[in-house]
Parts: sequence; C-alpha cells; structure tokens
Amino acid sequence: MFKKKKSKQEEYIVLSQANPKSAIAEAYRSLRTNLGFAGVDHPCRSIMVTSCSPQDGKSITMSNLAVVIAQAGHKVILVDCDLRKPVQHKHFHIDNHCGVTNCLLGQVTVEETAHTGLVENLTLLTSGPIPPNPAEILNSAKTRAFWPMLSEKYEYVLIDVPPVLAVTDASILATQVDGAILVVNSGVTRIDLAREARDQLLKANARIIGVVLNQVKMNSVGYQHYYYYYGDSESAK
Ligand SMILES: Nc1ncnc2c1ncn2[C@@H]1O[C@H](COP(=O)(O)OP(=O)(O)O)[C@@H](O)[C@H]1O
Ligand SMILES: [Mg+2]
Repeated sequence: MFKKKKSKQEEYIVLSQANPKSAIAEAYRSLRTNLGFAGVDHPCRSIMVTSCSPQDGKSITMSNLAVVIAQAGHKVILVDCDLRKPVQHKHFHIDNHCGVTNCLLGQVTVEETAHTGLVENLTLLTSGPIPPNPAEILNSAKTRAFWPMLSEKYEYVLIDVPPVLAVTDASILATQVDGAILVVNSGVTRIDLAREARDQLLKANARIIGVVLNQVKMNSVGYQHYYYYYGDSESAK
C-alpha cells in the first residue's frame, strides 16, 4: 500500500497503521477513546473535522482517526468532503476520478465508487471531481440525506471538510452531521480565530464534540513519557 518513498505527510498515516506502538498512534487512539465518551448520551455516528485555516492538520487527523477506529474493529467510512482541496486519495495512494460528488449527482452508488481493502473495516470515499459550486452541492437535499444513509451502513462516518473561516462549506455540513471536531494548530492558530471558528460552528448549531490540539512538540512536558516508554519497549524486541 505504501510503495513510494514516504513524504512527511504519508508517514503520519503509516504511524497509525504500521507502527501502532508509536506515541503518535497512541495519541490517535486516545482521540478514538474520547470520541466514545463524547457519544455516551448522544451517539455520534457522523463526525466532521474542521479548523480555522488550511494546513492545520484536519485531513491528517481524519486519516489517522479512521485507521485507528477501523483497527478497533468498527466499520468506518472516511468521506473527503473538502471539495476545494481534497487530499485523502493522496494519503491512501488511490485515484480520485470518481467519488462523493459523483454519488451526490446520482451518477454512481457509494458501493460502486468507494475504495475498500486499504485497511480492514475502512472504506474510503474520495472527493471525486471538484465541482464549480461546492457550497451549493453540500447544501442540497441529496447531501442532507446522504449522511443518514451512510450511518445506516457504517458505525462511523468521518467527513473531511475545508476550514470554517475560509468558506461556508464547514458551516453548511455542521448542520447535517452529529458532531464536529475542531483542530487547533499548536503555536500557530490564534486564540481569537479559534474562538471565531467555534462561534461560527455554534451559530450553525454544530455540536462541537472536542478540540484536537495538533502539532504539539513531542518533547514537551508529559509527552516524553510516552515517547521513552515506547522507545524502550521497541528496543527490547
Ligand atoms: N501533527 C503533525 N505533525 C507534523 N506534521 C503535521 C501534523 N499535522 C499535519 N501535519 C502536516 O501539515 C500539513 C497539512 O496537514 P493537513 O492535514 O493536510 O491540513 P489541513 O487538512 O488542515 O489543510 C501536511 O503536510 C501534514 O503532513
Ligand atoms: Mg485538508
């Protein structure tokens, strides 16, 4: 599956998949656990991720979260609904000729176009061709009916979307899904912008189920323990 020389981005997918003892994979598993807690009273089946800006780590968070949820034996579908800059097909090295936009236009079914066999229990629906009017498509009755349809077939529906402050797509989708995760880029995201993103999601009646603090330095206090613990157990093999 990961044939090419790995780029920095691709390594993060591998860490959850092929290196489950890494501190990074452990962090994604904690996120998976916390997601379970968030759904105690109101089950969260369809979950989107957003952030203030591009490059905050939304897509990489969703790829890894999808992998660790699938590894725990849950049936999960990852849908690339960033119809501006889709990247999930790149993370998993598959083509993006056909995907969610084709499904929403009624040209193909999810079963016909989604990719399986990448990781057991994981189905990936790439974006498909980028439409000229993403917000209009996402605001359609077809899209609103799409998530409940997927929730009937999959335990988790994870949706990658564009930044909330840049375009309206995230606010539109927030009204359609069970919960939203807000990614904050450690040391980069400004507090006032993070608040603005939160307020915009809340205005759209989103249920913010949690915040992911991304790009935290591994040698910052508290993370060293994981790092050294796993480092030792690896070398003892
Ligand atoms: N925790 C992290 N550590 C190191 N690099 C990261 C981390 N999260 C994201 N990146 C890098 O930042 C870039 C943007 O990540 P991406 O998930 O595509 O952001 P977004 O979807 O918010 O635009 C990618 O090159 C990715 O490899
Ligand atoms: Mg992205």
